[in-house]
Amino acid sequence: MVGMTSSTPTHPAVPRGTSWFMNLETAILLPFTFRRELAVSSMNSQAKVTMNTLTTLKARGERFACITAYEATLAEIASSVGIEVLLVGDTLGMVIQGHDSTLPVTMEDILYHLDAVKRGNVGSLIMGDMPFMSYYSEGLTLHNAAQLMRAGAHVVKLEGGRWIAESTRLLVERGIPVCAHMGLTPQSINRFGGFRVQGRDPQQAETILEEAAYLQEAGASLLLLEAIPQQLAERITRRLRIPVIGIGAGPKVDGQIMVMHDLLGITPRGIKVPKFVKNFLKESTDGIPGAFAAYLRAVKDGLFPGPEHSY
Ligand code: KIV
Repeated sequence: MVGMTSSTPTHPAVPRGTSWFMNLETAILLPFTFRRELAVSSMNSQAKVTMNTLTTLKARGERFACITAYEATLAEIASSVGIEVLLVGDTLGMVIQGHDSTLPVTMEDILYHLDAVKRGNVGSLIMGDMPFMSYYSEGLTLHNAAQLMRAGAHVVKLEGGRWIAESTRLLVERGIPVCAHMGLTPQSINRFGGFRVQGRDPQQAETILEEAAYLQEAGASLLLLEAIPQQLAERITRRLRIPVIGIGAGPKVDGQIMVMHDLLGITPRGIKVPKFVKNFLKESTDGIPGAFAAYLRAVKDGLFPGPEHSY
């Protein structure tokens, strides 16, 4: 939220003083060892950030932060400092497995990492990614999304535009919230000719806007926009009722997401660091917990992403 101070509750839907879930102020002031004890004592609790929390934040004009997570300890730290959403993303193919794209990632890979993240999580909403070709037919989509939900996801993410509307409808009717991922969708890099900014061409921008609205009508609960011009992301965010998360989509969206390794300045060698990445570990005086807290605060305060991170 622009102008938000560090005394503003991180999770407004969870009243301060009545919840074990920590606010940003607590996260910054408490030593990590104590935060860890609080976190561990709360494990296995129900998720405290829900889809309703994110919708409420959007309605209030308050920003939220998301991060990718692949294992228990770092998931626990990210969740403990108050980052609202943990995405078990197929970027694990690149930052964990060392591939040069997300295409080799399988359902088994996502389920393995989701299981670990679920055990570390202390109150964030967990998003599970549907990997390449895991949603090419109705039956497969339902089967795989159900596996993710059983393994601990609270929402599933699918890449695509209008063509994922039918899958979205099917999943939502059966109680599975969907995040639609549009713009630069890494599972389609071979069609795009690489990791390229999308929506620069006015016609393509209109298509992205129309398809985003179409997916909202199909029942999507969240939209994730990757690597598109900030003006387009702002138009989409204003137009849609559902919360919009951006990565390389400028500051005028409802929430931000970063790949954890990028945030910590450890993007693997061989992957070109995108313009929208910021190393928050550099400004941390408390190691990784401090970096996560700095990212959360910068998002809440509207300081990240800056113009230098946007298209
Ligand atoms: O898979 C992933 O981690 C993602 C992020 C780039 C948002 O989709």
